[in-house]
Amino acid sequence: MSARPLIEVNQLCHDYDGTGSGIQKISFQIFKGEFLLVAGKNGSGKSTLFRHLNALLMPTKGDLLVHARSIRQDPLAARKTVGLVFQDADTQIVGETVADDIAFGPENLGLARDIVRERVNLALDSLGLTRLRERNPSSLSGGEKRRLAIAGVVAMDPEVIVLDEPFSNLDHPGTLDLIACIEKLHRTGRTIVLATHEIEKVITLATRMIILEQGRLVADDHPRALLKHLERFGVREPCASRFGMEVQPWAS
Ligand SMILES: Nc1ncnc2c1ncn2[C@@H]1O[C@H](COP(=O)(O)OP(=O)(O)O)[C@@H](O)[C@H]1O
Ligand SMILES: [Mg+2]
Repeated sequence: MSARPLIEVNQLCHDYDGTGSGIQKISFQIFKGEFLLVAGKNGSGKSTLFRHLNALLMPTKGDLLVHARSIRQDPLAARKTVGLVFQDADTQIVGETVADDIAFGPENLGLARDIVRERVNLALDSLGLTRLRERNPSSLSGGEKRRLAIAGVVAMDPEVIVLDEPFSNLDHPGTLDLIACIEKLHRTGRTIVLATHEIEKVITLATRMIILEQGRLVADDHPRALLKHLERFGVREPCASRFGMEVQPWAS
């Protein structure tokens, strides 16, 4: 890991309506190559935090730096470095075919055609969608649609991929396929930030975990070190851990 953090979150506050809902004084850093798991019950502030990581929301107070540049000064640089896959991103499909849908982002960047083609092929391969490239997105399964939404972000070639609740409403095979793809994205060099309350699905892949509670950061440690403290923060402890056993990879 490099010495300088890729992302620095400094006393970040976001107050939606002046009543204190949002996030409060969150500070932590993200280093290249990490797989950061963000846990916390509904309403704890995960999505609000994520919208600052690629400058979709601006801090009410505090700051967030990407490659040492404030998102206040350079939101476009943050958007280039950090790709955000929204909660329920698969409702935003725009292309006639899977390949067209993935090409939409890079085409809008004004990239040359052969570069767009290369980006699309790489994204199709990373998300296991190559054989579905000519399919109409509306004919895909839930899990395939979710992977398509992620492929659209991967095609923008961001260093950091942020996934907000990627497992919601997926069946078991869809979940397994998605875990394998996320693992591969991490292994091939992307920094991953992932929010979920179903932490047992990725806890063995994560290199670090933070926990949010009522908009505040209440823990930041190696996932194994936090296992026994999860339930205090409204996060379900993995079954194996509750029975005193080693947590195994979900996908094995
Ligand atoms: N657009 C919004 N307007 C006002 N309050 C919001 C908005 N979005 C989220 N909140 C509030 O901010 C807090 C954090 O929400 P959120 O970031 O969505 O949490 P999580 O993703 O962990 O469920 C909650 O209290 C929520 O009600
Ligand atoms: Mg959320």
